[in-house]
Amino acid sequence: MPDSKPQTITVGVTGASGAVLAQKALQLLEADSRVARIHLVITEAGQRLFAEELVISSGDPKQLPSRILGAMPRKIELLPNKDVGASIASGSHDVDAMLVIPCSMGTLGAIASGVSDDLVSRSADVMLKEGRKLILCVRDTPFNRIHLENMLRAQQAGAVIMPAVPAFYHHPKTIDDLVTQYVCRVLAQINLPQEEMYRWAGSLAAKKADA
Ligand SMILES: Cc1cc2nc3c(=O)[nH]c(=O)nc-3n(C[C@H](O)[C@H](O)[C@H](O)COP(=O)(O)O)c2cc1C
Repeated sequence: MPDSKPQTITVGVTGASGAVLAQKALQLLEADSRVARIHLVITEAGQRLFAEELVISSGDPKQLPSRILGAMPRKIELLPNKDVGASIASGSHDVDAMLVIPCSMGTLGAIASGVSDDLVSRSADVMLKEGRKLILCVRDTPFNRIHLENMLRAQQAGAVIMPAVPAFYHHPKTIDDLVTQYVCRVLAQINLPQEEMYRWAGSLAAKKADA
């Protein structure tokens, strides 16, 4: 059941391919009436990915959220990744869930080994130590043994490993269809199911055979 209390969500964006996934997650969270506040932290490499993949860059980082959303944000607070003393670096600060979307192998490694030297990895560490939901939208291919072991360590510590892998069973026609379905699955993990999410109800062929 969705939580009735308005939620505070942290979104970490790192330098893995898939800036569009972060953009879609922020758009859906911003539009979601169940969400009161979004803490956004973008690593240096994450900023580069926005520039490389979506041609979104800004000399003034404060302008980034509006450029990513394509509208003035009402809920997003951008926090500097270097500020390991920001609110979300403490477990006493009330955050319901955190997404790292997309999550680079570098940040995965930092989280899996408890290295908390930037705000993304420190906030993720806090989510794990407080027993709160942490979703890691890991992205690379192929994975080496270090990546796979880090995923296992993070999962065993309580994280959900949600590789940025698209689904095709909903017959996507556009990249947006692929992105939306994946991001909706991510949001369902933090008790924010979206109307746009396609839900598999058994195959048509099997239903016809039963009829
Ligand atoms: C265009 C571009 C695409 C990248 N794609 C990935 C990727 O898909 N997965 C990954 O783990 N690293 C990727 N990297 C490398 C990371 O950005 C790099 O390891 C960086 O140090 C990660 O830092 P961060 O975790 O602080 O964001 C990419 C880098 C660039 C410039």
